[in-house]
Amino acid sequence: MSVQTSLPTASSAELPIGVFDSGIGGLTVAREIAVCLPHESLLYFGDTLRCPYGPRSLDEVEGFALQISEWLVAQKVKLIVIACNSATAAGLEIIQRRVQVPVIGVIEPGARAAVQATTSRRVGVIGTIATIESGAYTRAIRSLDAGITVFSAATPRFVEIVEQGMRLDRNPIEDIMAQTDSLYIRPAFSEIARDYLDPLKRCNIDTLVLGCTHYPLLMPLIRSIMGPEMQIISSARETALEVLNTLERRGQLASPECIPHHSFVTTASNSADFVQLGSAIFGSKLEDVKTVLINEL
Ligand code: DGL
Repeated sequence: MSVQTSLPTASSAELPIGVFDSGIGGLTVAREIAVCLPHESLLYFGDTLRCPYGPRSLDEVEGFALQISEWLVAQKVKLIVIACNSATAAGLEIIQRRVQVPVIGVIEPGARAAVQATTSRRVGVIGTIATIESGAYTRAIRSLDAGITVFSAATPRFVEIVEQGMRLDRNPIEDIMAQTDSLYIRPAFSEIARDYLDPLKRCNIDTLVLGCTHYPLLMPLIRSIMGPEMQIISSARETALEVLNTLERRGQLASPECIPHHSFVTTASNSADFVQLGSAIFGSKLEDVKTVLINEL
């Protein structure tokens, strides 16, 4: 039997990193990757047409995630980041088994950060229905420290609150990651947030994991309910550091001379909304944007 190995070559280091999400939320992760690895090019895929993934079955989301990963590999990415908790919960393992490039999800990095942050060993997790019902966070946290008690709650309407808040914002290309206080929250949405978060607060947690890549955009709202002492974990930074470590270990970091080029793909036939909201999250205008139809995947 002959075993074929494919060692990274110098040119593979110049290939882009593939990042995908159900829509715009994963741009919170893409943004951190661009900050932590400023010479890397990104190919971001937002499956806007089929968003949200959260209310769908894990089997359906697994199928979407695998389809997008195989498409990204065909575009010759050197690594894939699943910048969506629902897709990570549903598909990380199967994608890792099926594709030839390293695949990093957002759940393990977030879980690791939570385990490091908690002192009371009482950790809360919020996310979509798919993510919470999968139990993936509880497993990931407890595999690192079986003594931690995890309290989880599905908070599906937070995705809608983020997107509506951004659409109602005064300045459409405002950098909302830098000025999150400016995100407009309707009073009715603050009520919803309180209903979601008060029960978790009563569980005496000291750490809350934002188990959805949309949620960092609601940080001021969540912080105002959970209080100033709560450690609030977003997995974006931890995931970016894992990408850095993986590429470094494989000798695949882009050289410091590389000028990065970021390109963006949406499955929506009209990309205007994706560009407007996405630019505010990514922190700079999304320039190279294409539509890829689902039947082209
Ligand atoms: N950004 C997705 C996640 O992290 C949530 C949005 C959706 O439901 O598609 O799970």
